[in-house]
Amino acid sequence: MADVPADANVAGLAAGNLPADRVIVFDTTLRDGEQSPGATLTADEKLEVADALVALGVDVIEAGFPAASPGDFEAVRSIAARARGVVVAGLARAVESDIERAAQAVKGAESPRIHTFIATSDIHLTHKLRTTREALLDRVTAMVGFARSFTDDVEFSAEDATRSDWDFLVTVFKRAVEAGATTLNVPDTVGYTTPDEMAALIRYLRERVAGIDRCVISVHCHDDLGMATANTLAAVAAGARQVEVTVNGIGERAGNTALEEVVMALGTRRDFFGGATTGVRTERIVPTSRLVSGLTGLQVQANKAIVGANAFAHEAGIHQDGVLKERTTYEIMDPSVVGWEGTKLVLGKHSGRAGFRSTLADIGIRLDQAQLDQAYSRFLVLADRKQRVTAADLVALVGDQLATGQDTLRLVRWNASLGSAGPATASVVVARGDAEHGGDGVGNGPVDALFQAIEAATGIENELEHYHVEAVTPGEDAQGQVRIRVRAGDAVATGHGLATDIVEASARAYLAALSRLEVDPAYRRPEAVAAEPAG
Ligand code: KIV
Ligand code: ZN
Repeated sequence: MADVPADANVAGLAAGNLPADRVIVFDTTLRDGEQSPGATLTADEKLEVADALVALGVDVIEAGFPAASPGDFEAVRSIAARARGVVVAGLARAVESDIERAAQAVKGAESPRIHTFIATSDIHLTHKLRTTREALLDRVTAMVGFARSFTDDVEFSAEDATRSDWDFLVTVFKRAVEAGATTLNVPDTVGYTTPDEMAALIRYLRERVAGIDRCVISVHCHDDLGMATANTLAAVAAGARQVEVTVNGIGERAGNTALEEVVMALGTRRDFFGGATTGVRTERIVPTSRLVSGLTGLQVQANKAIVGANAFAHEAGIHQDGVLKERTTYEIMDPSVVGWEGTKLVLGKHSGRAGFRSTLADIGIRLDQAQLDQAYSRFLVLADRKQRVTAADLVALVGDQLATGQDTLRLVRWNASLGSAGPATASVVVARGDAEHGGDGVGNGPVDALFQAIEAATGIENELEHYHVEAVTPGEDAQGQVRIRVRAGDAVATGHGLATDIVEASARAYLAALSRLEVDPAYRRPEAVAAEPAG
């Protein structure tokens, strides 16, 4: 359909109406991405990510798995009610109760989608589902049909497709098409396949599944062998037209396919991929990456393609010389195209509220009035300490505000001292509701001492699994951002803290993580553990 602009959003367009070279970007940051250990997001954070995804220009947001918990249901429902110009999908196992929940959760969306799945490999059939191929086929027919009774947009996924028998997969997908599926998804659930194999599988299905041309063929890869992006791109080259991705590649185990890698590979190598395009506004990639990393606490490695801090840094003199003479000698993409330029100067202490609001809108952040007022007050405090407030600062600031907004523990005051004479000491006062609790600590350094003091004040025993500090921007007055992961038994939580002082940022991050740890259903207070009968 030639009159559909290349950057048109796919919401509301039937599969057959899409231009042949348009690749649908299905973002599952809020579902598969959120399944990353310790990455749990609050309801407000999920809305913030959803807004950023809309601004980024993805076509489909998989907002969650409504049957998994009341919290997931509510998150999908509120994203469906708010997000516009995008398809909102809810995941459901191929069982009636899940599909009903997903249908209820997405029904307020402008363009609702039910995404139902069942595993098709013999390994899963035998050991997990304990069913036969025949029974599974009947279930596909029944459940895809059931999903279609709620919406015209039904995606069917054959979980573990790449380890399934190819001929059986053909039959499964035929049944799904006959029952009304509009998107057929081929997941590489355990990251097992290779690019050539994935391409061959897509071609095999295209040649044999009757009616597949009326559906969008989708691909969903995991990165266990580091091939998620390569496998996804191979599928596109073989005819897949939906890519399931997450921002920064976050997700179960080694993660999912990274949105930024696929989008930029398609954009940079249009010559190779037959002109395939997406509707992603690439200049939003870096701000969105920062937002997701800030909110999930999942740090982006420095050498990560596109969004890593070093992705466009040239260390070797010969490279620097080349880039100065002609950028394309050593750069295949312009950093400004993916939003690195936006991380430069934006605001100062004389910037007014209107400028502040419009700068936030420019970087894809939408806040309600109360959130905006709070963010503006924090911005003024920051602008007093920091001459140049950049987009990166704002993303960190808003991310921190949303992340800590619902925390039960608050830092009231702290003190830490260190000298050559002995270990560091610290004292802290922490508020929980109206009550204040004090604690003292001694440690190897001020951060360690402060953490001991916080543990004493809160009584929350835990192991510190991960601690990372980084400057949000270069410069002496930069804000320090600390990310922390803590564990107590099976409960895991992450927190991040932001301050111009890294010791304070550390205390804030630690308290944020402990606040979340306490509300993790797997968390048991030490006295509860001690009271349990032994053995
Ligand atoms: O990895 C997987 O198979 C999935 C499906 C639910 C699509 O996430
Ligand atoms: Zn997955």
